[in-house]
Amino acid sequence: MRETNEMIQKQLSHRTIREFTEEKIPEEIFQQLMEVGRRTATANGMQASSIIRITDSEIKKEIAKVCNQEYVARAPELLIFIVDLYRNSQIAKEKDAYEESARDMDNFFSSFTDACLMAQNIVNAAESLGLGAVYLGSILNDSEKICEILQLPQLTFPVIGLGIGYPNQEPQLKPRMDMKFRVFENQYNTFNNYLEELKDYDEEMQTYYDLRDANRRVDSFTNQVITKFKNANPKRQEILNTIKKMGFAFHLKDE
Ligand SMILES: Cc1cc2nc3c(=O)[nH]c(=O)nc-3n(C[C@H](O)[C@H](O)[C@H](O)COP(=O)(O)O)c2cc1C
Repeated sequence: MRETNEMIQKQLSHRTIREFTEEKIPEEIFQQLMEVGRRTATANGMQASSIIRITDSEIKKEIAKVCNQEYVARAPELLIFIVDLYRNSQIAKEKDAYEESARDMDNFFSSFTDACLMAQNIVNAAESLGLGAVYLGSILNDSEKICEILQLPQLTFPVIGLGIGYPNQEPQLKPRMDMKFRVFENQYNTFNNYLEELKDYDEEMQTYYDLRDANRRVDSFTNQVITKFKNANPKRQEILNTIKKMGFAFHLKDE
């Protein structure tokens, strides 16, 4: 028997929760989750990510509109994780030591990674307490609007939203593709025929019911890939424009 523990078992039974009971998360529990966020590893110790807790129901509704997902407005807790280089650039300015490098992509991606790690650490902690969570990449359907709603200053940028609460649904475990496609040894492995290789997974995926569309099984994985690429959101494709508007510099060779 492989050695395991409660935490790993929880992580292996992860599923996204999109419907929550009315029960509020007790403040001590919520603060504990924030403590987990604060303790998360952070590139160079710079702590250049922040969380905005949305408690105003009107703002929640505005965010849900951008997401185009009504369940966002119903999440008992709604958090937005942000790249936050504003704070550190202000520190540098106050020391009369501002460097343009605060705006560069190295800092941006370090902060972006920090924000993601913070979010996942909080999700793990929340799930360990019997809470459920849903990530909301959909806040980026209109990143400029989110910056406006949250009154984000220069050198910040919204990364991901997170709804948390007590689960009011029991979704199936969503199938994942075989490990051999996701984990490689020493070098990247390509496969000659992905459709052939993924046949069984495609079949397995069609046994999954997405509770957002309860009466229908989901499409095969390989079809989902096509649908995703076909339905690219033009505003999301232009995301770099918002990032630039928020003060970040790309330093592209052909700029
Ligand atoms: C970066 C990211 C963005 C996501 N955005 C959304 C979203 O906007 N709305 C949503 O309902 N679920 C969202 N999800 C949840 C995924 O749809 C979900 O993780 C995936 O379908 C796998 O299902 P599972 O988490 O139940 O295993 C997102 C997940 C990630 C990691």
